[in-house]
Amino acid sequence: QTIYRKNYTPPSFLVESVELGFDLDPARTIVANRIKLVRNRDGKHSDIELHGEHIELVGVRMNGKRLKPGQYTLSEHGLTIRKAPAKVTLDIETVLAPQENTSLSGLYVSNGNFFTQCEAEGFRRITFFPDRPDVMAKYTVMLRADKEKFPVLLSNGNLIEQGELGDGRHYAKWEDPFKKPSYLFALVAARLVCQEERYTLQSGREVLLQVWVEEGNLDKTDYAMQSLKNSIRWDEQRFGLELDLDRFMIVAVGDFNMGAMENKGLNIFNTKYVLANPRVATDVDYAGIEAVVGHEYFHNWTGNRVTCRDWFQLSLKEGLTVFRDQEFSADMIGTDTGRAVTRIDQVRTLRQAQFPEDAGPMAHPVRPDSFVEINNFYTVTIYEKGAEVVRMMQTLVGRDGFRKGMDLYFARHDGQAVQCDDFRAAMADANGRDLKQFERWYSQAGTPVVKAVTQYDAAAQTYHITLAQSCPDTPGQTAKLPFHIPVAVGLLGADGKDLPLYTDGAAGQGTVVLELTEATQTFHFSGVAQRPTPSLLRDFSAPVVLDYDYSDAELLHLFSHDSDPVNRWEAGQRLAMARLLKLTADVGAGAPLALDATFIAAQRALLTDATLDAAFRELALILPSETIIAERMEVVDPQAIHTARQFMRRSIAAALKPELLAQYQANQTPGAYSPDAQSAGKRALKNLALAYLLIAPQAAELELAQRQFDAADNMTDRAAALAALIHSGAPDGAASALKSYFADFEHEALVIDKWFAMQAGAPGTDVAAVRKLMTHPAFTLKNPNRARSLIFNFCGGNPSQFHAADGSGYAFWAEQVIALDALNPQVAARLARSMDRWRRYVPALQAHMKAALERVAGSASLSNDVLEVVSKALAN
Ligand code: ARG
Ligand code: ZN
Repeated sequence: QTIYRKNYTPPSFLVESVELGFDLDPARTIVANRIKLVRNRDGKHSDIELHGEHIELVGVRMNGKRLKPGQYTLSEHGLTIRKAPAKVTLDIETVLAPQENTSLSGLYVSNGNFFTQCEAEGFRRITFFPDRPDVMAKYTVMLRADKEKFPVLLSNGNLIEQGELGDGRHYAKWEDPFKKPSYLFALVAARLVCQEERYTLQSGREVLLQVWVEEGNLDKTDYAMQSLKNSIRWDEQRFGLELDLDRFMIVAVGDFNMGAMENKGLNIFNTKYVLANPRVATDVDYAGIEAVVGHEYFHNWTGNRVTCRDWFQLSLKEGLTVFRDQEFSADMIGTDTGRAVTRIDQVRTLRQAQFPEDAGPMAHPVRPDSFVEINNFYTVTIYEKGAEVVRMMQTLVGRDGFRKGMDLYFARHDGQAVQCDDFRAAMADANGRDLKQFERWYSQAGTPVVKAVTQYDAAAQTYHITLAQSCPDTPGQTAKLPFHIPVAVGLLGADGKDLPLYTDGAAGQGTVVLELTEATQTFHFSGVAQRPTPSLLRDFSAPVVLDYDYSDAELLHLFSHDSDPVNRWEAGQRLAMARLLKLTADVGAGAPLALDATFIAAQRALLTDATLDAAFRELALILPSETIIAERMEVVDPQAIHTARQFMRRSIAAALKPELLAQYQANQTPGAYSPDAQSAGKRALKNLALAYLLIAPQAAELELAQRQFDAADNMTDRAAALAALIHSGAPDGAASALKSYFADFEHEALVIDKWFAMQAGAPGTDVAAVRKLMTHPAFTLKNPNRARSLIFNFCGGNPSQFHAADGSGYAFWAEQVIALDALNPQVAARLARSMDRWRRYVPALQAHMKAALERVAGSASLSNDVLEVVSKALAN
């Protein structure tokens, strides 16, 4: 059943207060829920509509009187009381079986402890309630549980009372002073310990910060705590937003569907985004923790204080909060190149995941018009493209203007549930700007293409840039209207320096933001003394595909000189992509493969340029992924792409061996491990060099990797060495390293996830090998992190094996989607997405993919989640 944005109706009743009582028992938990409801003046009728799913109703009273079954109707989706009085108190009792809940939505048990996940619609698996984000209420929560098994009882807000109940049970009563929608409710009842700290806000107010984990993990909470303190400080400084609670808690749980959840005052996190010490976590893990801790903390204002009217507005909080966490991570590094490195990472994510989504069967606008299952819309489009849309607004109104817009947004909407349009209106009004056309970024799906043509007039010393935009059709949307696109531009002279720009509103600066609002527009520059090299779309100023016919010479010029590091990187990617596409075609045609000396020389110059940050060099040396190459092709032959890319890697490795070795040595990071950006960048470059050196390794290189593996005092270096050994295809070295790694980290679940993930993504791992890994005692489908580490990394991260010619990868995919769906539909639906682009593949593969999709679609008792994904794939 499809739900449409245009059918929104205000709730018929509002909730004034909620009192919840939990008698927690893994097998049988009893929930008592007292809600005070009042008729909503904007409501359309007088029926009370409460959602409820997968729960057993024990009884319901209205204003003290027990309702008999005829006085309400109960369906598999909820409970309705017709023609209710204007003011009502309901007492509702439900019974649940948390230990049977494998969906990890609602109240569930993980490693013997209780946790909740209510976003988007999990609260209705706990009790009957108007489970929609525009119903905001004050909550009081009483928790009762066995004291021995569940010594820690947490919920949102402040602890106001606790004590013993006799019979070995105890209780805790929590009160959240802020009104909130039900999706922000949370409870934890568990055997946990915490790292805690009193922290003084800029205002002088003192707050209590806690990071809760299982006992053995108390040595892995420092970085999350530090990230939390940094987040609090950053939001005060950049946006003037203060923590509004006296107590802020982060709790880590090993079974979790997503990254983390911003429940008011009680953030619940996937352990992956909390636990770190040098022994078990990589630089990438550390960066992920900082970003996600920041993200969830920033939601306290963008999400919780101002929330969404309905789930179509999800990007209102997610796009904005991703933008905020991106800015936080960039500011934490502090340098210009550091900022650029984070920006390049964002561009890579967009190209790797969002552009394909926007071009596939699940394409949807940043503010969707319809959905079947909201959990399928926690997507890279809502999150990452949504963040790009917010970033473009900042580009258009400037940093200070953006702050003004944020201030106005909170002045207008604090405590409300609002729409994406309200944010845009606040930005426009605070800056006296017209952002009406900008709205199309929210309503039209698809990645716009901007085609640029330039013209230089030497006699007149003028330069013209003509930009033409178009946007492909997407399911349900044709004939798109022009977007309002900020295109940041610079012009390089022959010396590589920025020429001063003279155009409308620009007098001499090196970069100007052109505003493309029409289908085609020409921008004029005067006083251009020499034919320039254009640097277009600097800092990736809009999430578009930029089509410009660069010559190799121009790209090499940009690659070595552009003052915008993002476009410097981009020039390198273009150089590589042109060659990769050519090589792929040559593989297909059976022609001999060759890589030109110019390209190798550019790679060499970059690799050895010590004036550049190691982190930047590493990023610039990474070739476009097989997925990104595939997106550039009309008909995708994954084997040809793989062969071509491997050929390029081998050629680079062979040509640059001495330089790679020198960089390997030059970028060592002796001394105590620190995850700072500088050191992490060095390790990244060093380990990239190692991976190249291990492409066709001789004894010396194998030994190098083995030595690093044995001597590493941190997981970044250890895992990189192991991955290099696995990818080298030297079976003995890899096998023994895998064995010792497993033995060393057997009890560190997150490290074992890496063990599975590295093998799943290696080109030498075929379907049979993955099946074998699934029989390993450490493997389980029930734990999402583990399932992702092996199955997702194979289906999504190992294209040459997944797309095996006989279709065995797809058959495996179908089996796993069906098996996962029986346990956890949300996770299964994510896996289902690996088939999104099936229509792009060569006919023989397409046929196998279609058969696999049909097999899933036809399987009995499929969840809505998976059904939506596979039926859209088959239909579009
Ligand atoms: N709001 C969370 C975040 O982005 C994501 C939770 C979504 N969970 C879900 N099951 N759909 O931080
Ligand atoms: Zn979020």
